[in-house]
Amino acid sequence: AKHLGDDLSAILHTESELHARLAEMAREIEADYADEPPLLVGVLKGAVMVMADLARELRFHAQMDWMAVSSYGAGTKSSGVVKILKDLDADITGRDVLIVEDIIDSGLTLHWLKENLESRGARSVRICTMLRKPEALKVQVDVAYVGFDIPVEFVVGYGLDYAENYRNLRDVAVLAPHVYSDDG
Ligand code: PRP
Ligand code: MN
Ligand code: MG
Repeated sequence: AKHLGDDLSAILHTESELHARLAEMAREIEADYADEPPLLVGVLKGAVMVMADLARELRFHAQMDWMAVSSYGAGTKSSGVVKILKDLDADITGRDVLIVEDIIDSGLTLHWLKENLESRGARSVRICTMLRKPEALKVQVDVAYVGFDIPVEFVVGYGLDYAENYRNLRDVAVLAPHVYSDDG
């Protein structure tokens, strides 16, 4: 089988950088939610790794819930029209919700999701993301906690996939362009 490290052109953030940054973010989150822990809402599948690591960094009870959403409509990716494939188990009325994401790219998914959760009567809805591409944003998204801002490149690992692969890579890496470009 092909080695996981093949076809990567650069390591953007190592596993230890990601964990160190998550620890800093966890201290901020603990301070901000000193009165009552938020419900952590992970967005499947990309957020699985950051959810697992962030939740274990937190020194309060970290309840987790999950949503699966899919962008559909005109474009193939991030049309801004979102369909819920798996909804929350929890009723979030009156609750503080912290959405946990691996990456904000165009921002369309999170823009929609934040409004959707607010409309259910949550007391507060904030966003925590490991990565953000500021230059790819198509819509303004208010993000409370950002791990790293990154350039507009095709990144994989730490939950992020290319055709469902690479999610289990421990680092965040840039995928070599020959993997996804038309001329191979
Ligand atoms: C990716 C990523 C974010 C979203 C960001 O998920 O995990 O959820 O896209 O894109 P946006 O800011 O342009 O909306 P994807 O739809 O690939 O599903 P996955 O998490 O299962 O990989
Ligand atoms: Mn995702
Ligand atoms: Mg994906």
